[in-house]
Amino acid sequence: MKALAQEIHDLKKQKQSVILAHYYEEGDIQDIADHVGDSLFLAQMGQKSKAPVVLLAGVYFMAESVKILSPQKTVLVPDLAAGCSLVEHSPVHKYLQWREQHPDALCMTYINSSAAVKSISDVICTSSNAEKILAGIPKKRRVLFGPDYNLGRYLAKKLDREMILWPGSCEVHVLFSARKLFELRQQYPEAPVIAHPECVDAVLEHADVIGSTSRLLEEVKNNPARQFIVATESGIFHQMKKLRPDAELIQAPAEGSCACNECPYMKLNTLEKIKAALLNLKPQVTLDEDLRRRAQIPLDRMMTLTQGGVVEWPQSFVAPHRDALLV
Ligand code: 13P
Ligand code: SF4
Repeated sequence: MKALAQEIHDLKKQKQSVILAHYYEEGDIQDIADHVGDSLFLAQMGQKSKAPVVLLAGVYFMAESVKILSPQKTVLVPDLAAGCSLVEHSPVHKYLQWREQHPDALCMTYINSSAAVKSISDVICTSSNAEKILAGIPKKRRVLFGPDYNLGRYLAKKLDREMILWPGSCEVHVLFSARKLFELRQQYPEAPVIAHPECVDAVLEHADVIGSTSRLLEEVKNNPARQFIVATESGIFHQMKKLRPDAELIQAPAEGSCACNECPYMKLNTLEKIKAALLNLKPQVTLDEDLRRRAQIPLDRMMTLTQGGVVEWPQSFVAPHRDALLV
């Protein structure tokens, strides 16, 4: 394993590349990455990095977001099949139909979506900036939110805002069991429950802290509790253990006895595939330039609002590239 890590290190230098990894990757991948983080951080680092080649060890939409923001860079993924159930649950022709039913509304779309869906959205968010982005949308405008229903419902409740929600979900987070979590709480009464907002409402109701992967890590780092019940993907335990070797991390239970707290897409990536991608400079993310430019607009709005800036909003929805999307 050491030799492979060294080979990747050498190749990375040779190819003038930077490796970005999500917290849900296996520990060995997180350890060879230049930067490890949540979706927002990875998009920001991909944009900021001076390296002409970015390898994103995460899922495809994360790499696609880097390419949308930095078209001049070569963006590599270890495995093209690393998708996301939220992307699958939001095919562009259906999302477009939904948008066209509400032309006066503003459409806020989770970053876990395809470039095509982004291109017909007004603003993008991640779980770490979603509240800020929603607060930045004028109160008088109706809001469509997709494709994660659970995050949307959580936001609508938290900010007391009426939202029209798309019915998509994360196949990993919806499997946590509220019933079993309730039982586990009796067993560990001192342990705070920390949960990702992609979990269903009944699970979130048991949570003491709800937030993005980076917010959950911050909680483990700063909360003096010695035990935590964690309702998110298990890859994050790698960093949590590093930050708090003294703490007991208890995985929130799923219904049944499957290892369903693992994202099968994130886990497609391996060190071997990372080495091969750097060596061959493929697979690469490629995008039609017109689609990319359109998808960049809502991502740029997200970045501006995240930094506290002000954006302009369209009065109504039009998709001049409608025909191209429907082919
Ligand atoms: P974060 O943005 O919180 O890292 O979440 C990404 C994700 O895919 C969660 O399932
Ligand atoms: Fe998508 Fe869920 Fe995997 Fe996150 S954990 S990448 S939302 S399938």
